Amino acid sequence: MDSKIKNLNEKLALAHLGGGQTRIDKQHKNKKLTARERVTYLLDDGSFEEIGALVTHRTKDFGMENQQFYGDGVVTGYGTVNGRLIYIFAQDFTVFGGSLSETHAEKICKVMDLALKVGAPIIGLNDSGGARIQEGVRSLGGYADIFYRNVQASGVIPQISAIMGPCAGGAVYSPAMTDFTMMVEDTSYMFVTGPNVVKTVTNEEVTSEELGGASTHSTKSGVAHITSSNDVECLEDLKKLLSYLPQNNTETPTLLPFELHEEVRDNLTDIVPENANKPYDMHQVISGIIDEDSFYEIHKNYAENILVGFARLGGRSIGIVANQPMFLAGVLDVNSSKKAARFVRFCDAFNIPLLVLEDVPGFLPGTDQEWRGIIVHGAKLLYAFSEATVPRVTVITRKAYGGAYDVMNSKHIGADMNFAWPSAEIAVMGAKGAAEIIFKKDISDANDKEAKLKEKEAEYARLFANPYSAAERGFIDEVILPKDTRRKLIKAFSMLENKEVVAPKRKHGNIPL
Ligand code: COA
Repeated sequence: MDSKIKNLNEKLALAHLGGGQTRIDKQHKNKKLTARERVTYLLDDGSFEEIGALVTHRTKDFGMENQQFYGDGVVTGYGTVNGRLIYIFAQDFTVFGGSLSETHAEKICKVMDLALKVGAPIIGLNDSGGARIQEGVRSLGGYADIFYRNVQASGVIPQISAIMGPCAGGAVYSPAMTDFTMMVEDTSYMFVTGPNVVKTVTNEEVTSEELGGASTHSTKSGVAHITSSNDVECLEDLKKLLSYLPQNNTETPTLLPFELHEEVRDNLTDIVPENANKPYDMHQVISGIIDEDSFYEIHKNYAENILVGFARLGGRSIGIVANQPMFLAGVLDVNSSKKAARFVRFCDAFNIPLLVLEDVPGFLPGTDQEWRGIIVHGAKLLYAFSEATVPRVTVITRKAYGGAYDVMNSKHIGADMNFAWPSAEIAVMGAKGAAEIIFKKDISDANDKEAKLKEKEAEYARLFANPYSAAERGFIDEVILPKDTRRKLIKAFSMLENKEVVAPKRKHGNIPL
C-alpha cells in the first residue's frame, strides 16, 4: 500500500505544480497569483475540495501526447466563502497558457452542473490564452458547452467571473453571460479580436490595454462591473459581493441581526439644495439612509448619471438604483438605462428588494441619443421595473419629470411604496419650460415678456413643483421628512417581506434588446 500511496502523492504533487516552477515564477513576475493561490485566498481556510486534479488532455497531434500536465490548465472544485458553499474554477496560465481544451471544458462543465443541481454560486477565475490551438473545433465545442450552461444557470444561481489575465476571442462570452464581470487593473484584458487583427482589418493601432483593459471596460464599454487594483483586492471584492447575494433564486440573502431604534438621520435634511438647478451628491443620501458603510457600488465609473449597488438596510440586503444629479443632472440616457435595467433584473431574479432614489429631470435630448436608440434602451429600464416582483420602494428626493417619472419605479408600474420628500417636484417638466410652452401667447403678447414668463413660471411651480398633486391622487403614499427616511424604509421593507406576485403564464417576456 505504501508504494501506492506514494504514487498518488507524487501525482498530486505534480498536479499542484501546474506548468512547473519556471512558469509559476513568470506568473508572479507578471504580478499575478497562480490559480491555486487564488483559490486558496478566496476560500475559507481548508475548505477547498478539488475535483479532477488528475485529468489530462487527450490530444495526440503536434506532439501533445508528450506534454501532459495533471489538471489540464484549470483547477476546479468547491468550498466555502464566509461559511457558504460555492463552486469554483480557476484557469491555470502556467499550463498551456490556461488555454481551453476539450477536457479543460469538461472540468468546468462538471462544477457548473453541480452548482446548478445543488443551488450554489459558481465563480470563474479567468486567466487564459483562449481556445487550445492544438485542439481545433473540440476546444470550440467546449466553449459552447460552457455558454449553454451559463444560460441554463442564469437567474437560478449567481454566476460571477473574475478576469485575472487574458480573456480573448470566444472566451469572452462566458463572462458576458454571467451576472458580474470583475477585472484586475493592468494585468487583465478582454476582447473579441486582439490588437493584431484590429490592425489588419481596420488599420487602427491600439494596445491590449486600450482595447480591452480594466479601465476601458469599466468606463467606456461597461463590460466590467467592478475593477480592482490587484489579484488580492479582486478576491476581497468577490467575497464582499457574495455577502449580499443569496445562494440561489429560491432563497433570500442572509439577514444580519438588527434592532429598530429611533433611526432619525438629521444629516439628510440639508442635502438637497434650495435651488433646484444645483447638483448634490446622491451618495450622501444613500449613506444617510443605509447601515453604516454598507454601500457596494457596481459599475462605479460607467454611466455615472445613475448609481447602482448593493447595501444593507436594517440588516437586510437591498439593491439601490439612484439618479445622480452630479452627472448630467441625473438624466436617463442610453448607457444609464442599460446599466440600471441589468441591475434591476439581477436583483429581481435573486430576491433582493429594490430601493429607488429619484431625482431625474427626464431623458437626455439629442440626435446622438435618438440615433443610438434611447427609445429601446430607455424601454429596457421601464420593462425591468415593470416585471420585477421583489419588494420595490421609491423615494423622490427632488425632480421626477416627464416619462422618466413613470420609468423610475413609479406606483403605476408596480412599485409597492412611493415616498416623496417635501422638496419633490413631480411634473411633466420644469416650471420654466412648461410656462414657455403653455403660456406662449400670453408671454409674447406681454409688454414685459421676462416678467410675464416669471409670473407664469411661478404659477406652474405653485401647482406642480411639489409632491402634493401626486400625493392627492395617491401616486405618492406619503410625503416624509428626510430625517425619517431610514426608519420609514426599514419598516416598509419589513412590511413587504412576504410579498408575492403571481405573474401570467408565458414562456418568457420579450424585453426590448
Ligand atoms: N493554445 C495553446 N497554447 C497556448 C495558447 C493557446 N490558445 N495560448 C497560449 N499558449 C501557451 C503558449 O504556447 C505558451 O506555452 P509555453 O509555456 O509552453 O511556452 C504559454 O501558453 C504562455 O503563452 P505566452 O505566449 O508565452 O504568454 P504571454 O503572456 O506572452 O502571452 C497571450 C499571452 C494570451 C497573449 C498569447 O499566448 C496568445 O496570443 N495566445 C493565443 C491567443 C489566441 O489566439 N487564442 C485562440 C483564439 S481564442
